[in-house]
Amino acid sequence: MRSYVWNVYFCAMIERIKALLEEVAAFTASSADEVEQFRIAFLGKKGQITQLFADFRHVPNEEKKEYGQLLNQLKTATQEKVKALQGQLSGSKQTKGALGDTTRPGYPLAVGALHPISIVRNKVIDVFSRIGYGLSSGPEVEDDWHNFTALNLPEHHPARDMQDTFFVQTNPDVMLRTHTSSVQVRHMEANQPPIRILSPGRVFRNEAISARSHCVFHQIEGLYIDRNVSFADLKQTLLYFTKAIFGTAEIRLRPSYFPFTEPSAEVDIYWGLATEADYRITKGTGWLEIMGCGMVDPQVLINCDIDPEEYSGFAFGMGLERMAMLLYQIEDIRMFYDNDVRFLKQFTSAS
Ligand code: PHE
Repeated sequence: MRSYVWNVYFCAMIERIKALLEEVAAFTASSADEVEQFRIAFLGKKGQITQLFADFRHVPNEEKKEYGQLLNQLKTATQEKVKALQGQLSGSKQTKGALGDTTRPGYPLAVGALHPISIVRNKVIDVFSRIGYGLSSGPEVEDDWHNFTALNLPEHHPARDMQDTFFVQTNPDVMLRTHTSSVQVRHMEANQPPIRILSPGRVFRNEAISARSHCVFHQIEGLYIDRNVSFADLKQTLLYFTKAIFGTAEIRLRPSYFPFTEPSAEVDIYWGLATEADYRITKGTGWLEIMGCGMVDPQVLINCDIDPEEYSGFAFGMGLERMAMLLYQIEDIRMFYDNDVRFLKQFTSAS
């Protein structure tokens, strides 16, 4: 005889099995781990279905059939579900292989940035390569001939003081080059005209470090030697260059002095006086000096075995830090060497 209490209990068990059947039918999984957890929760030693089976022996005989059928239905459904999900997920496992899931989106690449000095160097090289300039390089540790003497700066020449020199050990003949003009000499010694080269490189001067000057910096030298090269050619080249880099063709040439060029000039561009910063940068004049230049002194050509009766040419030299400071409004030259990522990563999108 079924007691009232048992009857209530039995109905609740039937309901529970039906609820579990629904739960099993609705279950989905996205990993083999999830399927395994599901299997343990239902079919494991202490799983819900196992427990329901354990209760079976308490079920009165007359209810055993209904209870048993439903329970078996639940067990089969659960087993089938586990099998199906395992099959699905191990199927996708095969596409993983040794590399893992190759359909997963990749890790984003960290985008680096070129150093502003490299950016400016590349720009200048690009502009001059369009008018036929190639590249030439020389050593950073130089001898006296290439850095000074061949460039018309013999020993005791007062203009040597324009560039305070780092000597290597105590040998006065070995030094860190004070300018890239030394590469002019090396290139002319090894090549006959026509010559059209740029020489970017690091130079060294024994100067106190401040916001405006550093003991290590970069220059780009230009050299053009051919028949009938005149000062007008130099001027047109400079106009082309300033237009391409600074977007202005408003330039002026101030007479200057370099021992290796005659005549010599310093090139200013018109920067403008629109803002307070413009006043500061241009010292209130609106003009900014960007490079030194001139016609190569005939004596320098002779020193390099080039006949000045046949050939003439011009040279120019500019400081890359100065150019970068102007182009990117950088106020302190030391920032180029601090390697502060907060500074450097601002150039990520520049090229
Ligand atoms: N070498 C010079 C300097 O460092 C620049 C220069 C180069 C001037 C070529 C004239 C011609 O100051």
